[in-house]
Formats: sequence, C-alpha cells, structure tokens
Amino acid sequence: MSITTLGQFIIEKQKDFPYAKGELSRLLRDIGIASKIISREVNKAGLTQILGDHGSVNVQGEDVKKLDIIGNETFIWALAKGGEVCAMASEENDDMILLDGEFSKNGKYVICIDPLDGSSNIDVNVSIGTIFSIYKRITEQGTEATQADILQSGNHLVAAGYVVYGTSTMLVFSTGKGVNGFTLDPSIGEFCLSHPDIQTPKDGKVYSINEGNAAEFPQGITAYLKWVKENDKSTSRPYSARYIGSMVADFHRNLLKGGVFIYPPTAKSPKGKLRLMFECIPMSFIAEQAGGISTTGAQRVLDVEPTEIHQRVPVIMGSANMVNKVLEFMKM
Ligand code: AHG
Ligand code: MN
Ligand code: MN
Repeated sequence: MSITTLGQFIIEKQKDFPYAKGELSRLLRDIGIASKIISREVNKAGLTQILGDHGSVNVQGEDVKKLDIIGNETFIWALAKGGEVCAMASEENDDMILLDGEFSKNGKYVICIDPLDGSSNIDVNVSIGTIFSIYKRITEQGTEATQADILQSGNHLVAAGYVVYGTSTMLVFSTGKGVNGFTLDPSIGEFCLSHPDIQTPKDGKVYSINEGNAAEFPQGITAYLKWVKENDKSTSRPYSARYIGSMVADFHRNLLKGGVFIYPPTAKSPKGKLRLMFECIPMSFIAEQAGGISTTGAQRVLDVEPTEIHQRVPVIMGSANMVNKVLEFMKM
C-alpha cells in the first residue's frame, strides 16, 4: 500500500517532538476528526437546512451563519473530549473558553480557531475553510489557564494549519518542520498524504485583494496595483486577479501556484480586516514554513505581540519575491 494516512504520518513524525509524549499527536488527530465532521456537514449543507443565517451577530459585528456555529461547536466538543487542550479561543466567542473537564484541565496546549472561514461563501457552494493554531500553555499545568496562554506571538507556535472544503477536502499543517497536505479520501474516511513537503513558488502571477475597496487603500498598495496591470512580458505582467473571499481558499491556491494575498488597512477597517490570532498568525506560519513571506507591511506577522484575542492586522503574504515587491512600493 503506498498511501500514508494522517494518523500514520503523525506517528512517524512523533519522534521530532520528544517533549510531546504523544499529546500533540492526539491533538492533531482530534483536529482531523473535527475537520471530517465539518466536511461532512458542509457536503450535505444544501440538503439539511443548515445553510443561511443563524440570526445572531458575532463579536466582530458580522452575521453568524448556521455552519459557523456547527463548526465552532464541533471543535469545542472534539477538543474538550480529547483532553489535550486546557483553553481555546475562537473567532465566534467573545472570550477564551476554559476546557475544565477532568482530563482537559490538565492539558498542555491551547488552541485558537477560525472554525469557518469564508462565511459569505457558505450559501453559494464556494470553497470555505477552517484555520487552527496550537500553542503550549505558559501557565503551570493543572492551574486555570489565563489569557496569557492564548496571547502568544506566532514565534511560539507549536503547530498550525487549515482545512479547505473545496472540490476535495484538504488538511494542510505544519509543526515547524515544513508543510504537508492531506486530502480526505471519502471512500475510507481518512486524510491521506497527497502534498508532501509543500514549497511555495518564489514568484507567481496572481494577486488576491478585494479591489472593491481600492479608493481606500494606502498609496503604496494603489501604486502596486497599477504596476501589476502594466504590460511587461519580462516580469509576466499583467498579473491575474483571483479573489474568492475565503482567505483559506485564496491562500491555498497561491501557496500551490504562487501568488500574493493582501488585506490592507481601509477606511472601514483601519487595522485591516483579518484577525491576528485566528487567521493571520496560522496562515503566516504556513507561508513561512513553505518558503514564503508574511508581513503586516511594518513587521513579520509572527513577530507581532498580541494584545487582544480579536485583534486585527493588515497582511501581505505569499510568494517571497511578490511580497517583497509590494513592500518596495510601500516604502516609496
Ligand atoms: P470569516 O468568514 O471567518 O469571517 O472570514 C472572512 C474573511 C476572509 O476569509 C476573507 O479573505 C475576507 O474576510 C473577505 O473580506 P472582504 O469581503 O472584505 O474582502
Ligand atoms: Mn476567517
Ligand atoms: Mn470565521
């Protein structure tokens, strides 16, 4: 048999983490289980009346979809039962959640999740995703976790990744030793290694940004967007615009094919729209682990010291040469 399942892969790699004593492996397994459940719900969403609005608004002031709630509850359930995580923060909850069950209160890890990324695409059958990041708690095991356990910079990540519910469901993650991608084989219900050691191209021809906000962009971004549309064969211009509106899906395409994803500050979102803890840190970790770059424009996203759970930052990430080109324009 030439396939490697996620479970087999994790066990093979466990020796890379002598301190982990199997907990991290079990945690990644739990994330895989939650992802499979969400994938199942996403696949039959049109049939089971779980499309549409939940009727509430989240802490970000955004309409909550039923699948946002299902995704969130699925993760909370899987992590609380799994016993390796003592606290988590979710884009869908105002405050951190303590998992204080008999086993989980002694868990070594904390997790941040965006259970459903790309909510606006749920109802129209367009790719959506899940994003997660894992840190070791800094407070003592057995005591009550605090915000300090959650508010760690990306430099302290133990692992991070995402799931894209697309034409197939894929789990892509890194434990700091490169990036690997697994495709869900529905016939056996297992994630199987399909994209070992992903390296993102240094260059690409795709730029991903919501250009509808162009009137509000900083001058450097405006100048860059003019440049990408110019004709110059030697630099493969004009580039192609690709913007799905699910960061996971936009990021995934650019990771494999080369490209740059930008969410700059705008008048409506002066700090950018995307959330540091739930979206920018984990995706930046994957970008860097695959040989790409991710910056706020002022510093590496992974160097940002978080001050609040729902903090937002601007982000420019993707192929190294493309991100550096954007930075050049921002300095002009
Ligand atoms: P979420 O669905 O988790 O709230 O995230 C949506 C995010 C991200 O996925 C996407 O890239 C971005 O919002 C799209 O925002 P705009 O519609 O402002 O472009
Ligand atoms: Mn999101
Ligand atoms: Mn979300």
